[in-house]
Amino acid sequence: MIDWSNLPFGYMPTNANVRCTYQNGTWGKIEIHTEETVTLHMAATCLHYGQECFEGLKAYRGVDNSIRLFRWEDNAKRMSKSAQRIGMPEIPMNIFKEALFTLIAHNKEFIPPYGTGATMYIRPLMIGTEGKLGLNASTEYMFIMFCSPVGPYFKDGCKPVKVIIERDSDRAAPLGTGNVKVGGNYAAAVNATLRAHQLGYSSALYLDPKEKKYIDECGPANFFAIKNNTYVTPQSTSILESITNMSLITLAANMGMKVEKRQIPLDELGSFEEAGQCGTAAVITPICEIYDPLLHISHTYGFPNTIGEKSKLLYDTLVGIQFGEKEDTEQWITIIH
Ligand code: PLP
Ligand code: COI
Repeated sequence: MIDWSNLPFGYMPTNANVRCTYQNGTWGKIEIHTEETVTLHMAATCLHYGQECFEGLKAYRGVDNSIRLFRWEDNAKRMSKSAQRIGMPEIPMNIFKEALFTLIAHNKEFIPPYGTGATMYIRPLMIGTEGKLGLNASTEYMFIMFCSPVGPYFKDGCKPVKVIIERDSDRAAPLGTGNVKVGGNYAAAVNATLRAHQLGYSSALYLDPKEKKYIDECGPANFFAIKNNTYVTPQSTSILESITNMSLITLAANMGMKVEKRQIPLDELGSFEEAGQCGTAAVITPICEIYDPLLHISHTYGFPNTIGEKSKLLYDTLVGIQFGEKEDTEQWITIIH
């Protein structure tokens, strides 16, 4: 029996995954696989030159027991953008859709029941599979979609977390690949995440890689802050365009808040009333402290154990729409029958 209410954010085997291969300039048919491994040529471009991109989205079991997807077309579009950035073919919308719906059809019993707080995380990925040595794009690719039931990304769920400003490394370059979802960005962030964990922080908070003056984003999620009834979130060429953040911008505006997407200078951190991380995995994870190890300054927000008032309102509205408790005024939800 799965203990749905106590799931970690981790991998669990399910019934099947879905795959599709690209050869001779075209995508093949969707295949259903039960094995969890992939056999690759040792010279595959994904292994040497990082030709890999991925996505993350969730299926929700709604209050009415329906299966619900949130803005999946935006994940499909972003995957094609990521793929193109590193010389890989786009994944056509119809193939992404067929893979997604087939995956869900084969794994329905792994969508956690409503009320447990858990969801089914869906991970599409694409890799270059041609074996070659010269630095060049592969001519063959594999698209895979697998899923796993998950609990919250940060182990205390919606409890506020502490983050540390990363001063010793960048996860992305100003005109690099930070604005797309490619594996290399995450490899570049592994050491900073380890250091953050060792020091008791849940994530590293990156600065803009050019001037180190502005907030970029956290390792696994976008950054936002609130002051004077305004939702503020960074504008930068090196951060991922988060679908959750785009949604919060809309919800904040619908709630009568002002929205500012702009550079956030470091010295503004002290003026915020609330701060948080947002993303598919992180949902909204409030930040109670940002520590700057260079300046030895800690900025604190609200109380250590409570989410701020505006963040809570945004969280309840977003999650309410995702689980079908609140009206989907923006048509973000696809119901699967
Ligand atoms: N930023 C990074 C680096 C991420 O990996 C993610 C997760 O996908 C996000 C932000 C949040 O994006 P989204 O809300 O589309 O999941
Ligand atoms: C997501 O939020 O979906 C992500 O891909 C972040 C990842 C580090 C778990």
